[in-house]
Amino acid sequence: MDRLIITGGNRLDGDIRISGSKNSSLPILAATLLADGPVTVGNLPHLQDVTTLIELLGRMGVHVTIDDRMNVEVNVSTIEEFHAPYELVKTMRASILVLGPLLAHFGRAEVSLPGGCAIGTRPVDLHLRGLEAMGAEVEVANGYVYASVPGGRLKGTRLVLDTVTVTGTENLMMAAALAEGTTIIENAAREPEVVDLADCLNKMGGHVQGAGTDTITIEGVVSLSGTVHNVIPDRIETGTYLVAAAATSGRIRVKDTAPHLLDAVLQKLQEAGAKLTLDETTIELDMEGRRPKAISLKTAPYPAMPTDMQAQFTAMNAVAEGTGTITETVFENRFMHVQEMNRMGADIQLQANTAICRGVDHLTAAPVMATDLRASASLVLAGLVAEGDTIVDRIYHIDRGYECIEEKLQLLGASIRRVPA
Ligand code: UD1
Repeated sequence: MDRLIITGGNRLDGDIRISGSKNSSLPILAATLLADGPVTVGNLPHLQDVTTLIELLGRMGVHVTIDDRMNVEVNVSTIEEFHAPYELVKTMRASILVLGPLLAHFGRAEVSLPGGCAIGTRPVDLHLRGLEAMGAEVEVANGYVYASVPGGRLKGTRLVLDTVTVTGTENLMMAAALAEGTTIIENAAREPEVVDLADCLNKMGGHVQGAGTDTITIEGVVSLSGTVHNVIPDRIETGTYLVAAAATSGRIRVKDTAPHLLDAVLQKLQEAGAKLTLDETTIELDMEGRRPKAISLKTAPYPAMPTDMQAQFTAMNAVAEGTGTITETVFENRFMHVQEMNRMGADIQLQANTAICRGVDHLTAAPVMATDLRASASLVLAGLVAEGDTIVDRIYHIDRGYECIEEKLQLLGASIRRVPA
């Protein structure tokens, strides 16, 4: 298993390009299962999770071709199996996203249950209940969801989600796209990735309205056709590099991004003392050599602060001036990075779902590891501001969500290298 070795102390300074959004790529690749013709998806990031979803499609007999620019053409006409096996689903929970499209297009699906996860229990009950309300028969046995549609076609209905769920909203929206009649999803997730998926479905001939608000209305159609769609830039990758630059008192220009998707994150960076200059696709952040000021935040569904940025801001607060509190409201167990940062000399106290961070001058290098994607990224950030060589282990988590992280950080002047364990 590879490791990253980071020699801290360098101020980040430079320009990088942001990759396509992981969390858009996964539902959009799953949505290709709905189309009768070939769908080409572009701007896909080169990431393990994207590879896993492509492998999942391939295992079902779907024809997938990839060009050297990571444009993927998917043609489902060769599909033979409607099965998502445990060995793939266990490596990526988002595999559950194939359930809605398989049921809507082919009337049957067998998808392994994702099971436990390092950041909490993360059930999929809302996905299953929604599909049942649309007429699916769903049975959970032997760790699998066995689902079918008596009569062959799902029926539109009104769905009220009692918790805001991103992949739940996406799964049900995809299922509704081919259902008979109208589906209304209330308390829908408003995340930009939901909007990107709706745009793609509409290009395929779907009728989806209201994505980006908490009520999405989908008029089902009889069939969807092939299309070409480029996924939106990754707002979490963008935020991660901005926070890394702020933590190191540095300067950064991130290109090919979408500043309007990062309002809550940019606001907190300004509070931390960053000078920001934006145009339509670029964000420049300059700390003018200053140490960041500690900020307080509370995670919540979009457009509030993303839970996927919480760990990175915790790393910035660890070396900031003053005290900040970080409250996590989306997932119940998402503070595993805190213990590791404290091993590096941070002063962070956990009280229920809040981390109280008292900023220290600098951290000290240590061997660290994390068991989820964003926590691992936050430890890389901690390594950038630590004295000495920080070794970050289990970096397969990082490779699930950050394309070429060491190359991008090197471009910014960081001292970081990957070594085989
Ligand atoms: C997605 C993102 C993930 C992000 C998260 C929250 C993808 C591939 N992943 O994950 O990066 O951290 O949104 O922004 O897009 N819940 C239920 N029942 C369900 C479904 C969810 O109770 O059926 C709960 C979860 O336990 C959690 C909350 O809803 O407390 C939000 O989770 P959800 O939005 O579903 O997260 P994901 O879609 O899995």
